[in-house]
Amino acid sequence: MPKITKNGKNDIKVIDLFCGIGGLTHGFQKEGFNVVAGIDNDGSCKYGYEANNDAIFIEKPIEEVSKDELLEKYDNCKYKVLVGCAPCQPYSRLNLKKDTEKDFSPIEKFAKLINEIRPEIVSMENVRGLKKYPVFQEFIDNLKSQGYKVSFDVIDTSDYGVPQKRMRLVLLASLLGEIKLIDKTTEDPKKKKTVRDVISKLPKIKDGEISKNDIYHRSRKLNPLNKKRIKATKHNGGGTNDWSEELVLECHKKDSGKTYKGTVYGRMRWDEPAPTMTTQCIGIGNGRYGHPEQDRAISLREAALFQTFPKTYKFVDPKKDMKVGDVAKFIGNAVPVKLGQVIAKSINNHLQQFI
Ligand SMILES: C[S@@+](CC[C@H](N)C(=O)[O-])C[C@H]1O[C@@H](n2cnc3c(N)ncnc32)[C@H](O)[C@@H]1O
Repeated sequence: MPKITKNGKNDIKVIDLFCGIGGLTHGFQKEGFNVVAGIDNDGSCKYGYEANNDAIFIEKPIEEVSKDELLEKYDNCKYKVLVGCAPCQPYSRLNLKKDTEKDFSPIEKFAKLINEIRPEIVSMENVRGLKKYPVFQEFIDNLKSQGYKVSFDVIDTSDYGVPQKRMRLVLLASLLGEIKLIDKTTEDPKKKKTVRDVISKLPKIKDGEISKNDIYHRSRKLNPLNKKRIKATKHNGGGTNDWSEELVLECHKKDSGKTYKGTVYGRMRWDEPAPTMTTQCIGIGNGRYGHPEQDRAISLREAALFQTFPKTYKFVDPKKDMKVGDVAKFIGNAVPVKLGQVIAKSINNHLQQFI
């Protein structure tokens, strides 16, 4: 481990841009890194970020972040680590906006800050779709022109112990020398963590119910038609093909809707990793987010576990009313904590040569 953090030897400090609720930060802290600050323009993430992590939350759009305020947080440490998971939605295949309407400015500003601060280590995580946009190649070209060694991979998080199929682009860059992501840990399909491993022992709940002992183990109330639909969906991997004609959505009957038919309203499979968690993952109509056998969508708790948040992670202030949609957004947007750990371990391995 790097000789850092809690004992006051602040050789290495991390700043997390676009920190959200802190999935990435938490992974770094679990690996012993000293994350000094997270920055995000969504103030609703502040409570959860700070309640679970020993780092301050700065509420600010990245466009307004200055070189000086970041350098002040790094406080002349020997190795500055700048990590960031810029908003993924613009580059996701689920976003149907035209490329010309997409906002690339957060990534451009990330690159600008790198040039101004010259952190020894940089990491960026995003959806794999980012790769096809010129802004990604420009990001790499810029890093190289500044003297960084760069590597990037598209990985499936289920190859790294996350109980979820989640394809992500992970970039690492260093001013010190070659840097790369650690090897996969659970590539063998038999070793992958599954839906069963993670949620089979949770208390049973109905749609619309909140578990007695866990405010996050709650599932959205289904309307009567959707209740009929989930009941008609075969346990353990069933989908819309199991339905009788009157349950089929009008839009799925048209040719243009046929591609969605197999991807929404399905139930998860017990013995596979979960599908990708998104900000919409608590609705059965938004993906394969039905429980394998209970007649409901997955709960917030189940989504959080698929994202490898510990059960103790507090997403909202317990003294305030919970906005379920906000919590789903925090969870779906997050970098799985375990992926954060994988990135942190990779940086740690690299830094070991220089400490
Ligand atoms: C993919 S999420 C990051 C998730 C986070 N790294 C985690 O692990 O929990 C992207 C975040 O970027 C934030 N964001 C979007 N545009 C921003 C901007 N212009 N400046 C700062 N933050 C922004 C969003 O509020 C969101 O929390």
